[in-house]
Amino acid sequence: MSQDDLKLSVARAAVNYVPEGKIIGVGTGSTANFFIDELARIKDRIAGTVASSKATAERLVSHGIRVFDLNDIHDSIPVYIDGADEISGTGAMIKGGGGALTREKIIASASDRFICIADESKLVTTLGKFPLPVEVIPMAHELIARKLDALGGQARLRLKDGKPFITDNGNVILDISGLQIARPEELERIINNMAGVVTVGLFAQRGANVCLLGSPDGVKVLE
Ligand code: 5RP
Repeated sequence: MSQDDLKLSVARAAVNYVPEGKIIGVGTGSTANFFIDELARIKDRIAGTVASSKATAERLVSHGIRVFDLNDIHDSIPVYIDGADEISGTGAMIKGGGGALTREKIIASASDRFICIADESKLVTTLGKFPLPVEVIPMAHELIARKLDALGGQARLRLKDGKPFITDNGNVILDISGLQIARPEELERIINNMAGVVTVGLFAQRGANVCLLGSPDGVKVLE
């Protein structure tokens, strides 16, 4: 089975977690894209979606799925379905490989349940092998990089086509490599408290409630 087959299998399994007649949160990335394509098959059974990135909003709209502005939703969102770059057995995640971490964290915080969909290669014992993304206000990236290096990692400005990668919110991203994240909730708090940081891609204080992991033996459910 290819990695794409595994992503498709969890995307299909995630459709079972979509409640009828509600607005749901939709994540960003290649696994989330498989989910969006599956969601299109049942689009008449939901009220609509909230998107965690411009790319996701465009893909949803291309399928004729309604996308709401979060400001127009006054109830909590029953489920948020998204991928991850790494996930631990307790549901803590590294996210932001696609650069959408801030909007992802906002929608996750507005949702009752976070359903993480990933192939089983994303399950780790200790978070940190995948470089930890941090969205930063552009004027502060050198300052924040020095502070992150002092925590024991190596922070690098994310580039795209030789230029700084710019997020949907107009900010830049530092990717921290070389971390072994023994206490994810504590590190999330420390980095979020740095002036100039918009969001750290650690989702530990609000981790996944359910993780659907694609494996050659089928979809494994971690709750
Ligand atoms: C985007 C994300 C993605 O969920 C994460 O990068 C996983 O992506 P993929 O499903 O392509 O492996 O956090 O910001």
